[in-house]
Amino acid sequence: MTRTGALPPHAAEPTGVWSSKPFRRLWLAVSLSGLGLWLSVPALAASAAAAAGGGPAAQARSAGLVLAVMALPAVLLAPLAGTVAARLDARVLLTAADALRFALVLSVPLVGAAPWTVVAAFLVALLALPWTAVPDAAVPALVGADRQGVDRQGEELQGQARRAVQRAAFGAAPVAAVLFAVLALIARAADLADLPLYASAVVFLGAAASVALLRDLRGGGAPGTAPWPLLLVVRGVAAPRGLFLAAAAAVLTTAAIVAVAAGHAREMGGGAAGFGSVLIGLTVGLAAGIFLGPRVLGPFSRARLLGLAVVAAALLLIVIALVRDLVVVVFVTSFMSVAAGMAWSTAAGLAGEPADEQAAAPARLRAVALVTGLVAVAVLPPLAAALGDNAIGSYELAGTGAALLIAAVPALLAGLLAYRRLDDRRGIPLLPDLLAALRGEVYTPRSRAAEQAAAPRNRGVFIAFEGGEGAGKTTQARLAAIWLRDHGYDVVTTHEPGATKIGMRLRAMLLDKQNTGLSARAETLLYAADRADHVANVIRPALERGAIVVSDRYVDSSLAYQGYGRRQPVDEIARVNAWATEGLVPDLTVLLEVPPDTGLGRLASPADRMESEPREFHERVREGFRALAEAHPDRYLVVDASLPQNEISRLVQDRIREILPDPVPAGTEDITSTFPAITDV
Ligand code: TYD
Repeated sequence: MTRTGALPPHAAEPTGVWSSKPFRRLWLAVSLSGLGLWLSVPALAASAAAAAGGGPAAQARSAGLVLAVMALPAVLLAPLAGTVAARLDARVLLTAADALRFALVLSVPLVGAAPWTVVAAFLVALLALPWTAVPDAAVPALVGADRQGVDRQGEELQGQARRAVQRAAFGAAPVAAVLFAVLALIARAADLADLPLYASAVVFLGAAASVALLRDLRGGGAPGTAPWPLLLVVRGVAAPRGLFLAAAAAVLTTAAIVAVAAGHAREMGGGAAGFGSVLIGLTVGLAAGIFLGPRVLGPFSRARLLGLAVVAAALLLIVIALVRDLVVVVFVTSFMSVAAGMAWSTAAGLAGEPADEQAAAPARLRAVALVTGLVAVAVLPPLAAALGDNAIGSYELAGTGAALLIAAVPALLAGLLAYRRLDDRRGIPLLPDLLAALRGEVYTPRSRAAEQAAAPRNRGVFIAFEGGEGAGKTTQARLAAIWLRDHGYDVVTTHEPGATKIGMRLRAMLLDKQNTGLSARAETLLYAADRADHVANVIRPALERGAIVVSDRYVDSSLAYQGYGRRQPVDEIARVNAWATEGLVPDLTVLLEVPPDTGLGRLASPADRMESEPREFHERVREGFRALAEAHPDRYLVVDASLPQNEISRLVQDRIREILPDPVPAGTEDITSTFPAITDV
């Protein structure tokens, strides 16, 4: 069942990692440390601007310098962190890092000199590096996944833990932005300009304390595994691809705002609190966009969405550059960030797709983001200062606005170029494609639709039986086929995986318990490969000659097992399968519903590779099937598999009868007037 419609997101993640107390503590420490960092960034930038004195130009330059030096360590030194961390005690290293950051941030208002602020900012960012290297290496031991070796459950736990830690580190950014804005307001009212700095220092101290108490933290970094960001980018420049162009443009729009926001907000009379408000709009928008990216417009091409989101972000950046009202700027910034966030998560999704021939694509994407961000914060503030305010007629264009305009131009061009390069639906007009996606459909141009309608293919009927293990699909599929044959239909019964010669080999690989460690993506592709062969050589030829095809399992099995079961994005699997089957969707899918315990208990032969998965896996598969059926009730019959066999057969026959064609070709009926009535057997 190929379905590209928006699907319900995965069922909630299991509580697996959260049941580990040491992991929860690490998560808390990472959240605090992240909060300290994200709070220190605007606090240090604002403090540098204030310490610089002079006019807005000098202030913008100082703030920009702080931002640039804070981006430097991640760009230049990130891989070293793993190497250093591998040699030191993890707990001591992280505790020392944040205790030092506490002292550094605290020293800034005490010293009160711009050069020291810059040095301290660099060191604060440098000391953030162990916080990415250590948790990444320590996670397996903390969640107990190291004992489970490299089996799938262990991998799943590790993946879940790493994602949770990453979300904690980045999710702290919007919280920090809100905190910064509030603190800036209080600071102004209480005449305590350095309040955000003090707060950030305290949060670092909290992070240091919480990690110091984490006795179970072991394992340092992994030396030499992280790639060098600059190297990745330099290699990528030789063959710039649409994907990286788009990602760079999306990052450019947001980094440009970060780079000049302090000055831009001040231009509009906003001060530090205004700067904070812009940052709130930015971070919250980004988080929302990243969340929405894979979820909106299910049937719409991701490649097109990426290009469009970048172009939208660049156009909104132009609006931000030209408008001189802080409230409007904050709003538009949040919309722009939603677009940029969507572009980012879409690009990340595309970079992770198996179709991507570059294994290093996700790492390169991050590298591109870091370098683009660094360039933006290094170049734009001095540019804004150099441009200064200009009057165009009666309109005053501030230096910051001009710098944003200049950043928007390459972002827009890159977005347009990326759209052209990545477009995977060339020749299909954008607007109807988008409107159809809004209705949850895939747009087919009229000429093509007419072609498809006129084509003799698909004259038969395609029925799929789906369900978890031991649901009794095979029996019911066989009974339905017998019933149909009895009524004079040409019926082809088939199954997945393994209905063709090649398919049988794939089946052997897929179900052999000896094949441990098969990656979820490889598994998905093998099932899809079996299906592609099945459709091309069995199902489609049968349908074309007008037969009724009854298949034991089809695309929904992949969506349920590989998507929900293995926790892979269901819409991506739907897309891979839509391609594999050339969009062939069953006319009816019969879902036999059975609780995993009952179903697995019914199995007679020894469990194969899939059947040996843990109970929770089969629970997710069941949820997945249910969600799929609920999303398209018109094409499904859901039957309780615990009913007596003949009762199930009756329900199935009643439903199949509704979609059956006339078994005698239309032309012959007039002559013979034989219309076999279908009765229950
Ligand atoms: P099979 O022996 O055909 O069992 P069943 O009677 O349950 O259909 O084994 C097929 C196994 O492969 C089953 O556990 C489900 C799994 N599977 C997937 O994970 N993805 C798929 O796309 C398909 C078709 C099957």
